[in-house]
Amino acid sequence: MIGSSFTILLAPVSPSPFLSFNRLSHFHHSAVSTSDLFRATSKRLALATKTQSISTMANTNEENCGNLKKQLAKLFEASLRETVPSEPDVEPLVAACTAKFGDYQCNYAMSLWSKIKGKNSEFKGPPAVGQAVMRNLPPSEMIESCSVAGPGFVNIVLSKSWLAEKIQKMLVAGIDTWAPKISVKRAVVDFSSPNIAKEMHVGHLRSTIIGDTLARMLEFSKVDVLRRNHVGDWGTQFGMLIEFLFEKFPNFEDVNERAIGDLQAFYKASKQRFDAESAFKERAQKAVVRLKGGEPKYRQAWVKICDISRKEFDKVYQCLGVHLEEKGESFYNPFFPGVIEALSNQGLVQESEGARVIFIEGINIPLIVVKSDGGYNYASTDLTALWYRLNEEKAERIIYVTDVGQQQHFDMVFKAAKRAGWLPAGDRMFPKASHVGFGLVLGDDGKRFRTRATEVVRLVDLLDEAKTRSKAALVERGKTEEWTEEELEQTAEAIGYGAIKYADLKNNRLTNYTFNYDQMLNDKGNTAVYLLYAHARICSIIKKSGKDIEELKKTGVLALGHPDERALGLHLLQFAETVEEACTNLLPNVLCEYLYNLSEYFTKFYSNCQVVGSAEETSRLLLCEATAVVMRKCFFLLGIVPVYKI
Ligand code: ARG
Repeated sequence: MIGSSFTILLAPVSPSPFLSFNRLSHFHHSAVSTSDLFRATSKRLALATKTQSISTMANTNEENCGNLKKQLAKLFEASLRETVPSEPDVEPLVAACTAKFGDYQCNYAMSLWSKIKGKNSEFKGPPAVGQAVMRNLPPSEMIESCSVAGPGFVNIVLSKSWLAEKIQKMLVAGIDTWAPKISVKRAVVDFSSPNIAKEMHVGHLRSTIIGDTLARMLEFSKVDVLRRNHVGDWGTQFGMLIEFLFEKFPNFEDVNERAIGDLQAFYKASKQRFDAESAFKERAQKAVVRLKGGEPKYRQAWVKICDISRKEFDKVYQCLGVHLEEKGESFYNPFFPGVIEALSNQGLVQESEGARVIFIEGINIPLIVVKSDGGYNYASTDLTALWYRLNEEKAERIIYVTDVGQQQHFDMVFKAAKRAGWLPAGDRMFPKASHVGFGLVLGDDGKRFRTRATEVVRLVDLLDEAKTRSKAALVERGKTEEWTEEELEQTAEAIGYGAIKYADLKNNRLTNYTFNYDQMLNDKGNTAVYLLYAHARICSIIKKSGKDIEELKKTGVLALGHPDERALGLHLLQFAETVEEACTNLLPNVLCEYLYNLSEYFTKFYSNCQVVGSAEETSRLLLCEATAVVMRKCFFLLGIVPVYKI
């Protein structure tokens, strides 16, 4: 859908006609003068040099009460400074470990040894370094014991009572106290971004689902997120659509989505006419010029077409519970001339075969910023939008969620921005732009997903189908008698839409995934259905106990006596670092895996530890509640609505 197939207009737009048009609210900006732009750019340049280097997006200075890894890293850091004061740059690397020796491991003794050997005779090899690091760890309540293994790995066993206390604290103070602390203040997540009058396809669905999750994780981490729908709402195809609209509906003002019916079919029909009839084609080309010139009738028709498409998109967003803020490609029209001029003044733009381009080191095709006919394209829009996001919106993190096919496009845009000094050269510095690519959605035949051989899938139908199927399964399980119609509907929706989202998110986003209703709606295995049921089951255990859980939170004491209780407790406490990792590396599957493992740990605990009626009932109910709280937060971050009854 990019570049070649979707080009954006023509010569610089005079902004004044837009102003007379109040429906076009997002044109209320006047054109940006070059001098304004320059001021802003140089401001940005100053900012760019101030960028800070980071090891993760997270801020280590503030207290990370949920993040075990960070807390341990602090202890190790203190020990390192003491053990090897001559090496102040060594960063502690702490990792959760699955070995039976401990819960966490710090294993830089080898690399540290290679730095100090010869310089410091105090140590006779990596194990001795490990021993010293262990000895110098400051005393801490969180550590029960440590040991050194192999070539200097320092293993940590966390204190059970400390873990239990932390979980209990969270139950009282709320799960938000376990939110990652991220130093970025504002981020743009550019996601979904379908094209007006064209098909909103499964690729856009993936972008919507992945983008929403990333936005949720950042929001949870208290980042101000601008959820951007960069819709393709500008381009030469509008000339053809507008002319066709005038032809079909002489009173086009009255046209609504019912009259047009299917906008995609309308697009197809107008395209056919465009290709077949030269007179129509000519009118369409003139229409583009008139639209661009801001002629009211053409503007109105354009607004109409966009509105109709928008209503269709909104249906999908409503089903999915996804909120987006539209700033389409057209929004950036007034900013083109200034941005391109600024880049030209920096000497970055060159003439090439009539077009104006930016060459990028290591890439053999240039980035075309002005086409040979003087028009702007997908790349010019993205460059301008990036400029806007950095300078006007002051975003420090800008994330683009599209299929992997657009990777090179973004790579080039980011590199051009680096050449211009908008972005710092280093990848670990802010402001930072990232492309979050994803693979294809496949059908059972292993080919690109479609319902019938030739037809494309309408997303609303696709979502509906999941809901219908999950409702049928509930009806089959006799829920019509137990539940109200509303409960049935809501549960079917939560399960159906949740299943689609989870099936998408659980895979590493770069891999292709196979869309299969039977698999995603299976109540066994790693599916949303299984997880939602697991959550509902926990809720019913608590309910069955007849205890007031709010009361227990205040009066009861949580302990992790049984090994399965301890394992579950430790996993609960790893929530914060997991979200942080998913958020920093932009990998929602990390959170899915955590959630699935959580339900596995719970199952193990529940099969080996009696809850209701046992001597440990209070403590175990609190552990159940903590599990449910963390599960719900995971669901929330994945955009899945939890169910409480099954
Ligand atoms: N409209 C584009 C497409 O359908 C996606 C836009 C992604 N965002 C961006 N800033 N280029 O492929």
